[in-house]
Amino acid sequence: MAALDVAGKNVLITGASAGIGRDLALLLARQGANVALLARRLELLEDLAAECSALNSKVALAVRCDVTERPSCQAAVQKVVEELKQIDIIVLNAGMSMGCYFEDIKDLSDGDKMLSLNVMGVANVLHYAFPFIPKESASRIVVISSVAGVVGVPFRTLYCASKWAVHGFCASLRTELLEAYGDKAPKVVVSCPPEVATGLNTNRLKFGNDVTAQFNEETAVPSTVAAEKILESIREGVRIGLFSRVHQWLHSLYNCFPSYIDKIVIDGVKKSHRAPRYGNMPSKM
Ligand SMILES: NC(=O)c1ccc[n+]([C@@H]2O[C@H](COP(=O)([O-])OP(=O)(O)OC[C@H]3O[C@@H](n4cnc5c(N)ncnc54)[C@H](OP(=O)(O)O)[C@@H]3O)[C@@H](O)[C@H]2O)c1
Repeated sequence: MAALDVAGKNVLITGASAGIGRDLALLLARQGANVALLARRLELLEDLAAECSALNSKVALAVRCDVTERPSCQAAVQKVVEELKQIDIIVLNAGMSMGCYFEDIKDLSDGDKMLSLNVMGVANVLHYAFPFIPKESASRIVVISSVAGVVGVPFRTLYCASKWAVHGFCASLRTELLEAYGDKAPKVVVSCPPEVATGLNTNRLKFGNDVTAQFNEETAVPSTVAAEKILESIREGVRIGLFSRVHQWLHSLYNCFPSYIDKIVIDGVKKSHRAPRYGNMPSKM
């Protein structure tokens, strides 16, 4: 099947004010898509909307939305459809991460924030947007998960829980769409980036700790490259978008050889992370 042309498509992106969402918006704008940019920091979205218009978007909307607040999601979607009428592609990207062992958590209330943002934030926006997504195979419902959504990763218990949850959500949604719309079912794409150099690394929920484990940004994927990989998955309409052969291999072998993959992941995280647990944090963070 030919890859989807995004020119002229209406794309709603949550978490568009920074990082992956921002770079994806710019990439889509270059390809002539109309973009509806949602996040809490409206001034950043307004600047981004102006950039998207200057690229190739006929319409670029900046809409304030806190994805954890349902009235805010409803109002934001209403504003988007007043302008765009329909949402051909929805990218549910807003999210936060963490960086401590479960054993080191001092304040578990950050777990509520994590699940409310990374899981219910997806369901909230999709709930209001759903009637405006054409029930056609060219439509895309895209959720940004993580490699931590397909294998267990240390320092990420509740983050993994949130990302594994969206995989379950999407798997169920796919069956409902197939049952209800058959060949016309919109494609549900779950993209699973590895470590990407964005603010996510430094803005981790702290769970009551002063510092969190962080990956080395120099070895992380640039967010422009992550945006390209995500767009590729969107165009192809794949179920699960992994960024490399190694990640595909980790994913497919996880159910057969979980203990072996656990060790590989632990070694990889040890090499790529600074953490109080590893005693390799710089003196000033
Ligand atoms: N960076 C990585 O290494 C990595 C790896 C795998 C997966 N991911 C996933 O990629 C997605 C994007 O992460 P990123 O790396 O681009 O992070 P980021 O640079 O920190 O950006 C996060 C975005 O989420 C938005 N956001 C946070 N809370 C929100 C809320 N309550 N309502 C609406 N928007 C909210 C932020 O905007 P406002 O603050 O303006 O609201 C921001 O635009 C996340 O789902 C993350 O889990 C990232």
